[in-house]
Amino acid sequence: MSGIVIVGVQWGDEGKGKITNGLSSGADMVVRFQGGANAGHTISLNGEPFVFHLLPSGISVPGVRCVIGPGVVVDPESLVREIDMVSEHGVSVGENFMIDFGAHMVMPYHKAQEAAEEKARGEEAIGTTLRGIGPTYSDRHAREGLQIGLFADFGEFSARYRSVAERKNALLTKLYGAEPVSVDEALDRMRPLAERLEPYLADTPGMIRETLNDDGKVIFEGAQGTLLDIAFGTYPFVTSSFTTSAGVSPGTGVPPSMIGTVVGIAKAYVTRVGEGPFPTESRDERGDEIRRCGHEMGATTGRPRRCGWLDGVALRYAVELNGVDRLIITKLDVLDSFETIPVCTAYRIGGEATRTFPRTVAELAAVEPVYEELPGWGTSTRDVRRPEDLPEAATAYIRRVEELAGVPVAAVSVGAAAHAVVDFERLL
Ligand code: IMO
Ligand code: MG
Repeated sequence: MSGIVIVGVQWGDEGKGKITNGLSSGADMVVRFQGGANAGHTISLNGEPFVFHLLPSGISVPGVRCVIGPGVVVDPESLVREIDMVSEHGVSVGENFMIDFGAHMVMPYHKAQEAAEEKARGEEAIGTTLRGIGPTYSDRHAREGLQIGLFADFGEFSARYRSVAERKNALLTKLYGAEPVSVDEALDRMRPLAERLEPYLADTPGMIRETLNDDGKVIFEGAQGTLLDIAFGTYPFVTSSFTTSAGVSPGTGVPPSMIGTVVGIAKAYVTRVGEGPFPTESRDERGDEIRRCGHEMGATTGRPRRCGWLDGVALRYAVELNGVDRLIITKLDVLDSFETIPVCTAYRIGGEATRTFPRTVAELAAVEPVYEELPGWGTSTRDVRRPEDLPEAATAYIRRVEELAGVPVAAVSVGAAAHAVVDFERLL
């Protein structure tokens, strides 16, 4: 059996899409297990960048079956737009693509609800992507959700939609003083989307398990990152799904005993979009330099990302929580021009140094990072493809990251192109 889970070990945008896409050529199946169109996975297709929000990052690789698992929340409009976009560029989305019946749908009222909620939070806003993710997962758990399987029977879907939308409108108008959403107009928009998506609907957990039992290779593609996990992230500044490797089981119907290797993706530095504490954030010109060199603008919302240094305490926490076997470090080349590179090795809390990641945001906001300055390498790594060709200081940087994380680094990415990878070992 060979399952491989790709999880972000920071606050998202670690390069999971690029790595998943790169590993897909050796895989039989790529499965998204959580999140929704809040994800922005940038993939280079024939040298051109594409941003995927819902389609699994293996979709452009011929012969790979791609699955949206039951743990994902699907915005039908966004998904159809994405299918059209990739189809126009010669990527076939046909029998190679399946959406599990059980995936919940992001409906127009979810987006309206989220906009009203974020506004009402005022100073305490989370800074969400406004893609309706939180309200959709809330409704799912409150047993008010609409599963995409309903699209197979539009009459049944319409009746359910109408009933929930009427209550949502009461919430929007009476509690938030917001505009109601038009039920009939939404249903008119949904009908052609249901027709488009219906052929992809499938009962997928058994197929994934069968692929694994037949020794097929399955990649479980995570979205967001560990520190955005609903249970173990920096709550409440998190997303609403289980972003860690443990999310694979409820998100796909594959039991923990079948899952396999866990690969954690970390940038050589750290970014965060949205609100919430970020101990190693660099608010000076060096942070601006990272943002500029790394093109750190949100792929989903276009917001500038907050940038900072690699955080060894948070990384270790994420490695242990996910059971990471191997790390892949991305965007090493972004650090090429820095004379020295700070790395956080511990947190100081009230004069005491600790390597334990705090469980509350109040404590996390109060920590003071302890830095070690590592020498930079002052030369471009973008054309490096073999470990022995990396500058010595870059190798030393990677070795230090391995020590702090407690697991080996399997590969380093040094550019956006699919082949811009230095493999220390073969993962697939
Ligand atoms: P990928 O898959 C980075 C952040 C939002 C916000 C918080 C909650 O590209 O790594 P949500 O809309 O999910 O309710 O917002 O989570 N966020 C991400 N940050 N990368 C992502 O996805 C993210 N998806 C959500 O900015 O702080
Ligand atoms: Mg992203």
